[in-house]
This record gives sequence, C-alpha cells and structure tokens, in this order.
Amino acid sequence: MGKSINESVLIPADRLRKILYAMAGSWGFEIGFNDAADRRGKLPLGKSTRVIELDRFGQSISLTGPADLMDRMADSIVQLADTISEQERENLSLTEEIVERYQQLSLLFDMSDRLGAARDNQSRMKAILETAIDAVGAEGGCLMIKGSQEQWCWINREKLESEKLARLASKTMDHRKHSVEENRHCALPLTVSLGNTIGSLVLGPKTKAVYRSGDIKILSTLVAYAALLLESGRLYEDLESLFFSTIKSMIEAVDAKDPSTRGHSERVRRYSHIIGEGLGFKPDELKSLELAALLHDVGKIGLPDIILNNEKEYLSENQWELVRMHPEIGVAILSHVAQLKSILPAIGQHHERFDGQGYPNGIDGENITLFARIIAVADSFDAMTMNRTYRSRFSLDKALSELSQNSGSQFDPQLVNLFIANINKTEIMLDV
Ligand SMILES: [Fe+2]
Repeated sequence: MGKSINESVLIPADRLRKILYAMAGSWGFEIGFNDAADRRGKLPLGKSTRVIELDRFGQSISLTGPADLMDRMADSIVQLADTISEQERENLSLTEEIVERYQQLSLLFDMSDRLGAARDNQSRMKAILETAIDAVGAEGGCLMIKGSQEQWCWINREKLESEKLARLASKTMDHRKHSVEENRHCALPLTVSLGNTIGSLVLGPKTKAVYRSGDIKILSTLVAYAALLLESGRLYEDLESLFFSTIKSMIEAVDAKDPSTRGHSERVRRYSHIIGEGLGFKPDELKSLELAALLHDVGKIGLPDIILNNEKEYLSENQWELVRMHPEIGVAILSHVAQLKSILPAIGQHHERFDGQGYPNGIDGENITLFARIIAVADSFDAMTMNRTYRSRFSLDKALSELSQNSGSQFDPQLVNLFIANINKTEIMLDV
C-alpha cells in the first residue's frame, strides 16, 4: 500500500540541493552535503561553519558563511526543512490515496473480467469469491446469499475451519458489520441498501500476514459492488424463471389438447437443439431456437380437439382451413410478449416447405427463416416416431429414411443431413 508516512522523508537529492543552495547563496553562505569536515581549517576570516542534521530527510549538511549570520541561517534552513518535510508528507499521503484508488479500480476490473463468462448467480459468486481471495492473499473462503433459499459458494473449503466460517457468515449477515476474528478470519456483509443485507463474504487466514485495515477497505469496495451485482442477478433469474414457468404452462395447455402427442413440444425442442448444435449455434442462439421449438404449436390452443385428433385426410375442407391457421394464431398470441419478438417468424413459418408447397404463405428455400426450417425437420421426425390414434409409429430407420426422401422438397437438405449425422439413435429409442 505504498510508503508509510511515518518513515523519514526522502526527496530527490538534486531537488533538496537546489532549494538549499538558492537560499544559502542569497545570504552569502556555501552549503555542502555530508562534507563539512573537509572545509574546516581553510576558512577565511569572519566566517564559520556548522553541521546541521536534517533528520527528517536522513541527511546532514555543512553550512559555511558569515559568523554573525550563522544562527539565523541555520534556523531558516531548519524551518525550511520542516516546511518541505510537511509538503512531502502531504504528497506521500496523496500518493497513497492514488495507489489505493488504483488498486480498488484494478480489483473491480479484475472482477469484471472474471464475471464476463458467468451466466448465472452461482458462477458470479465463484468469480467474486476468487477475486476477493486473490486481492488479499487468503487461503480460501465462502460467499453466502440468503434469498428464498440459501446459496453457498466455497473455495478451498478443505483447508479451512469451515464450520467456524459458516457460523461467522450467518452472524455477519445478521449483525450487518464487518469483523476480523482472531486476526485469522475476515467477514463482511453484502449490503444492497441501508437495512437490506443479502449475504456475507468470509475469508480464511491470509497465507503470509494478518488482516490489516487496508484489506478491509479493499474488500469493502469489492462487496459493495458484488452485492448489487448479485442482487440484480437474482432478480433477473427470478424474472426469467417466472417467464419460463409461464411458457411451460402454455406448452402444457397445448400438449393437453391431445394426450397422444404429450411431450411433443419438448421432444421438438430436443431435436431442434441437435440441429442447432450441429450448425455451431452460440448459447444465446440455441436458447432462442429451443424457445421457438417449444412454442411452435402454441396456435393450436384454440383448435377443437376433434380436429387435432384426426389424420388430415379425414378432415373437411373447413377443418383443414382451421388447422392451416395455427402458425398465424400462434404468432398473434405471442406477439404481445416483447421477449419473444425474435422467434415469431419461426412460429409463423414452421409449416412452410423448402419447395414452396407449404403453408400459410408458400414461401420457399432460404426465404423461410432458419429456425423454422430446423423446427420443420424436428417436428416431422417426432410426428413420425410417435404413436397416433390413427396409425402406429414409424421405426427410427424408416423415419430417418422418410426425412431423406423429402430432403430438398419438404426439408432443407443441409439440415436433414446434420440431423441424421448427429442424432444419438440409442437415446431416441429409449425415449420413445
Ligand atoms: Fe404445427
């Protein structure tokens, strides 16, 4: 943490010399640094020499000049030395402050780097704990968050007195105050706002020294930032979980329309995922694709059961018209949800065919959005491999060969190839 201000003050020798030379010269004095002895004996008449110890600078000087002015000159030099020393103390204190701020800033940058890859609160907790441990050189520690349920994250638990640390974590959360116990354990509350403490950070012994006030300062900066980050992460996760529960109940409502297709949406999600992975989708793209796959038939919510349970050959033209409306009904239902805007084309186009003979708009090839082309393959594969009231399911080989036969006409050939190449046959056989 920089140089202590209690140590003797050292300023660059040439700067000190310049100041003292200028002052002494204007009074007719000569000044020497630590070389007074060499000059005695050669003194002209009326002149004297004196050695002055400037303890605060860790230096002594010799002053040679008019004897009658010597006392005043010596006093002035000591006074000047005191003033310079005071200024240097202030400079050092400022330097310490700057160093401290720099350390805090680089700590937060370091934590941001580590947090970059964290996708959930558990990984965020790990990144924060690692940063805290490295910042003070502790052997390990734990981070605890109390929400609807407690979440814990430990590093090097086996090296620590874990029960003691866990007790200290709970105590710190309740008392909302930092503490250092037995100079070995350091604990800080994670406070979001006055009176709102969401958890605590407890670190085990430092590997090389005991905890000092500088450690607490730097950890306080870290936990202040971490508390806000974890709280917003938790709120986001709660919101996301609410969003997915709502989606899940919509999907269950669709699946419940026809017991023979129960689980269809979930399986289409899984098959779409296989193709998405084969295409090298990033996690965010995979998430969107899976959401579109789960919701692709949500427009069937409004269709009568009698229509859904029948093979299309047995439907009247009017009924068939209704069936062909379900992609657009799905889009209309979901268009009110801002988070689903990007997947609406996939919902609306999942019955389009690669050759342009599909519905509702008869668009073809790459005019059909990629997600819709993927879902079309996954949807048909699941329909073929499931028992229906009006027919038995296809064997896996027959279903795959059907996909191949319709590759280029009904389906995008590249996606069919990817699906066939990547599907794990054993897993599918077990599930069906
Ligand atoms: Fe559909």
